[in-house]
Amino acid sequence: MSSISRQARVPEGIELRALKDGEFESFFRAVDFGFGNDTPQGRIDQERRIFEDDRAFVALDGNQIVGTTAAQSVPMTVPGGAAVPTAGIAYVGVKPTHRRRGILRAMMDRQLGESRERGDVLAALWPSETPIYGRFGFGMAVPMEHWSISRKHAAFGGAVDFPGRLTIMSPDDALPHMQQAYEAARPLWPGMLARGDHWWGFLLADPEHERHGAGPKVHTVYRDGDVCEGYVTYRINPKEGPSLEIEELVWKTAEAHRALWNYCLSVDLMETIKYWNLPADDPLPWLLHDSRQLRREPIDGVWVKLMDVPAALAARAYSADGRIVIRVHDDVSPQKHGRNDGAYRLEADGDGASCVATTEAADIELAVADLAATYLGGVSFTTLRAAGRVEETASGALERADAMFAGERMPWCPEEF
Ligand SMILES: CC(C)(COP(=O)(O)OP(=O)(O)OC[C@H]1O[C@@H](n2cnc3c(N)ncnc32)[C@H](O)[C@@H]1OP(=O)(O)O)[C@@H](O)C(=O)NCCC(=O)NCCS
Repeated sequence: MSSISRQARVPEGIELRALKDGEFESFFRAVDFGFGNDTPQGRIDQERRIFEDDRAFVALDGNQIVGTTAAQSVPMTVPGGAAVPTAGIAYVGVKPTHRRRGILRAMMDRQLGESRERGDVLAALWPSETPIYGRFGFGMAVPMEHWSISRKHAAFGGAVDFPGRLTIMSPDDALPHMQQAYEAARPLWPGMLARGDHWWGFLLADPEHERHGAGPKVHTVYRDGDVCEGYVTYRINPKEGPSLEIEELVWKTAEAHRALWNYCLSVDLMETIKYWNLPADDPLPWLLHDSRQLRREPIDGVWVKLMDVPAALAARAYSADGRIVIRVHDDVSPQKHGRNDGAYRLEADGDGASCVATTEAADIELAVADLAATYLGGVSFTTLRAAGRVEETASGALERADAMFAGERMPWCPEEF
């Protein structure tokens, strides 16, 4: 794959610069045009809640916006529970009249340079298509699945008991309970994002243009005593079945998980229950009487780039003590993004982890995008070796790396950013 640094020139006739005051609406109209969508006023108001103007860039042809990109500051949980500074890159688009001339490449160069300057340890994005972002050093780090099940076949296998209670609440009443459960769950799943009040406002706003014919968001919380251990946010879509479409089901305890799923699977009149985003190891199949009825579609979710390999590797926890030298091949990131090409010695023990550049001989070798794919525990080095993406240069190193990087849970990022 060719180097980003060699080809990141802004195409002739195009100006690439930071978004200016007063350009917010035109920015969104350009983004939506790229995805074939309208830009209703409600969307402008909604995006205002989370948009970080000082992290947005536009490509212009004359005075017409032909390319857009922006980042949001979304600290991401890494294995062990720490949250590291992360650029959540979004709103990426280039007008069809200007595609394949290098505008995306030039915009990514600018956006990732900005991220590096700020000291982000990771960059992350939800790609529209899988072949696009590997060339910029992103690896598929958070796989996910779409699930659906017919309510007729959704009975649990055993008794459904739980000590707490379920309550449907208005957004304002639900908010503190949802925040409590989310904060308890957030350190447990690598890939979850820290949410400021502005993000909660965005998620609870529920503007008409986001409904697409379905009903308003319903928030049901599960509390045991005074403690909220989980919640579900969903809509009823009368056009499809009707179906109950889960936007987010967050849980800390097994009881909350069981109670909330049992609730979703037994709402009267529903034909189908759907959830767009689950980790493959969610325990639901093990609760069902007939788990074969569950339709599962695996898909790539969030892609991650390690902006700073030693900082990223030192920030996470490891499941086994150990020492390993990793040769990282990075021919895609220029210096200003933090070029990570080189060998790094990673050491982990009960006191934490350290990672430094070294001249020692490597134990394993891989590309920076593939290291990013393993980083949150979503795929093992052994699997990547079978795909020809990892080389073991010292006997036993692969097994050691897998033992160190393995997590208790598959990574999960419950929301789109
Ligand atoms: C995807 C999109 C942003 C690409 O913009 P672009 O300016 O045409 O891309 P560039 O010309 O800078 O291409 C950069 C590289 O990515 C590759 N690329 C671009 N779009 C691609 C695609 N859809 N699939 C595979 N590769 C793609 C190019 O071939 C080029 O490769 P190379 O430089 O390594 O040889 C643009 O087509 C678009 O707006 N699509 C619709 C909206 C969308 O999908 N946005 C992305 C959201 S994550």
